[in-house]
Amino acid sequence: MTSAKEQFDRQAAQYNAQWNAWTETSLNWLLDHADCQPTDVALDVATGSGFTALAFAPHVQSVVGLDVSTGMLAQAARQQQERGLTNVTWLEGAAEALPFPDAAFTLVTCRIAPHHFLSVPAFLAEVARVLQPGGRLLLADTTVPNDAPEISRWQNHIELLRDPSHRRNLAPQEWRQELEAAGLRAHTVEPIAGEARVNLADWAAKSGCTAEQLQALKTEFAKAPAGAAEAFQIQQSADEVTFVWQRVVAKATKG
Ligand SMILES: C[S@@+](CC[C@H](N)C(=O)[O-])C[C@H]1O[C@@H](n2cnc3c(N)ncnc32)[C@H](O)[C@@H]1O
Repeated sequence: MTSAKEQFDRQAAQYNAQWNAWTETSLNWLLDHADCQPTDVALDVATGSGFTALAFAPHVQSVVGLDVSTGMLAQAARQQQERGLTNVTWLEGAAEALPFPDAAFTLVTCRIAPHHFLSVPAFLAEVARVLQPGGRLLLADTTVPNDAPEISRWQNHIELLRDPSHRRNLAPQEWRQELEAAGLRAHTVEPIAGEARVNLADWAAKSGCTAEQLQALKTEFAKAPAGAAEAFQIQQSADEVTFVWQRVVAKATKG
């Protein structure tokens, strides 16, 4: 089993190109629904190269960006310097054991990362612990349709072929259950439209796939169940395979 730290340390240097264009709809949704205040003390869990932390920084008092990959955190620090933002700090750490005291934050964000986590319940229990009463969690991740086990199995298998640190994409209704089980109040949990169409070869290259891995992915796409082809808008020609991954966004509060 490859850890997220190994995978993302390896990928860090070539990570940024394309990524934000693929995922900017979810970032805009988080910003639009966070109700940011200049007094907010924010934590961005699994910050990667810092896209979300740096997008929130101008709207809050301070942000800590946390990640298991020091390679990704080095990229984040570089981006921060280029943008001249002084209210962001970076810290190595895991989502399942947040290295902060209780009630340390008014706002927690986490974007397109929980599908790597070893335990979503442990992550959400930690979010509930470090949020102040009334604090908000804004979340986005890759998802699968509700009540569609065959599509879920196919999509998670594809993700794992492409990135051995993948664990599981949860459906929106699973997210609602997990948020509530952690004692958080789930206000919005919904799929969002408008994410970018992705080229399979580009997507595979971004995670460092070999030619054999890309071929295995193409073979699996050619055999995609009809429900998956529809859900992920798969288009296949002799030259390329493209698709649109589904994303879920959620807003929850503590108390
Ligand atoms: C797709 S990237 C992050 C994207 C970033 N949140 C953004 O908005 O652009 C996923 C990140 O999750 C991190 N990660 C994976 N598992 C983690 C865990 N258990 N705790 C903390 N970070 C983790 C990886 O190191 C990687 O940097």
